[in-house]
Amino acid sequence: MNLQLDDQGRLRHFLDIAGLPRDVLINIMDTAEKFSGVTEQAVKKVPLLRGKTIVNVFFENSTRTRTTFELAAKRLSADVLNLNISTSSASKGETLLDTLANLQAMHSDMFVVRHEDSGTAEFIARHVPPHVAVINAGDGRHAHPTQAMLDMFTIRRHKGSDFGRLRVAIVGDIMHSRVARSQIHALNTLLTGEVRVIAPRTLLPGNVREALGVHVFHRPEEGLRDVDVIIMLRLQKERMSGALLPSEHEYFQYWGLTQERLALAAPDAIVMHPGPINRGVEIDSVVADGDQSVILEQVTHGIAVRMAVMAMSMRSSGTEGAA
Ligand code: NCD
Repeated sequence: MNLQLDDQGRLRHFLDIAGLPRDVLINIMDTAEKFSGVTEQAVKKVPLLRGKTIVNVFFENSTRTRTTFELAAKRLSADVLNLNISTSSASKGETLLDTLANLQAMHSDMFVVRHEDSGTAEFIARHVPPHVAVINAGDGRHAHPTQAMLDMFTIRRHKGSDFGRLRVAIVGDIMHSRVARSQIHALNTLLTGEVRVIAPRTLLPGNVREALGVHVFHRPEEGLRDVDVIIMLRLQKERMSGALLPSEHEYFQYWGLTQERLALAAPDAIVMHPGPINRGVEIDSVVADGDQSVILEQVTHGIAVRMAVMAMSMRSSGTEGAA
């Protein structure tokens, strides 16, 4: 049984892109398209989740993800609670399930969970009552499915819905990146023409080619040729153990996205990054702020895509009348 879908194939929890069919991913993007109209109106609210309580449970730092989840919930008229874990009972030794049981006792309808351990969102989804939906906002190195979907939405906005025509390159710290893993699953599910990863050997999981079906390059000079989309990743230093890289300066010299390297891609290629960006480490400021960069658009699209995922998963857990 797929924990993420109900018996009619509708989204129930949103934990991982792997295991979701193509039509669900397309439905998320189509629904987000409708909601992006809402976010551009003067009154940016729809009453879909009025009376529902959504709790952002973040055990790990976040700026973009938590705030856009919060805005998305507010634009759907839900009540939102941000649980600050450093001041919560978790730091007093309460177990994860006890913390959640207490939040459930307050009649929460949805948990948006970020945690440094892979699998936490799924673990919680297995322990909530049937009316509660769980959304993964990033678990360890494993998955970050709403980020991947806002990235797919951004690509579709710029390049159209035929992913089969596209060459997409993901550059940098693939090894530690939950974003890259979710993006690769999403790109594969959407039947993308070619998915490339470009990374130093020390930042690539050994079986990436076989496990994820991507084309591997070690130098941007080879991998960036003629691509339509470039996705840069941050070096996830907080997840690295030992010295995997000589220095940030050297990293930029060999793998950083400069104007010269960008010129190898298709002339209308777009440059993406999930943020936070490290200027002068993985990306040159001139490129990050340049005409081909859609990095801030990604942030904006995060709101509509998160509205879509929230509305869809609440509908299947018994909320009437979604988009
Ligand atoms: C990413 C994350 O937290 O996984 N950021 C984000 O959600 N916007 C990527 C990162 O931290 O580099």
